[in-house]
Amino acid sequence: MHFAVYERNIAPILAGLTALLDGRTGNALEIGSGTGQHIKDFAQHFPNLNWTPSDPDADHRRSIDAWTAHAGTGTGKARAIDAAADWAGDVADIAPLNLIFSANVIHIAPWAVAEGILAAAGKVLAPGGLLVFYGPFREGGQHTGEGNAEFDRRLRADNPAWGLRDVDEIAALATRAGLVQRDLMVMPANNRIVVFAKT
Ligand SMILES: C[S@@+](CC[C@H](N)C(=O)[O-])C[C@H]1O[C@@H](n2cnc3c(N)ncnc32)[C@H](O)[C@@H]1O
Repeated sequence: MHFAVYERNIAPILAGLTALLDGRTGNALEIGSGTGQHIKDFAQHFPNLNWTPSDPDADHRRSIDAWTAHAGTGTGKARAIDAAADWAGDVADIAPLNLIFSANVIHIAPWAVAEGILAAAGKVLAPGGLLVFYGPFREGGQHTGEGNAEFDRRLRADNPAWGLRDVDEIAALATRAGLVQRDLMVMPANNRIVVFAKT
């Protein structure tokens, strides 16, 4: 499977992660890997991390496994992780994790997915481990551009449980899970990389 948006966002995501992950080792998990195009590049660019993809969608998992096999990076098979569930047990064999990454998932999913990611991150991240989100966010209750406001309206029309999340709302979940916000990077097209660290 191929998502056209991958072509537009992979270079800025890699640049942002390079600034964050330089020298970082250990186990890394992606939540909602989609086609698998991003994680095969992560495994090539950050070979000191052991990358594990995941997605609850079986077709996506087949695509992820095809992309990672094609890249030949030795990346593990995609796991069927539903982030809205209590998924800490699904990664017990690779915990503690040094990184959890999730791109373009929490706004195209019910709020329970954001809650589930933060709650489990608090359990499975190593001290100092990072939880990194990429995507469009609201900040201080406001959209960061008219394009994002329109996107938010379309998402909520498709599903009232979806919609752009506010960095402050995610930070509040992070506090409850024992994480602190460490960074916010402005990315092209009004996207953000938002970084939390396990204390
Ligand atoms: C818009 S796609 C983004 C895929 C990829 N991360 C990217 O940026 O191209 C959203 C992904 O989130 C996954 N997803 C939906 N609900 C989920 C859940 N409850 N837990 C984890 N992933 C979920 C979907 O299957 C889909 O692969």
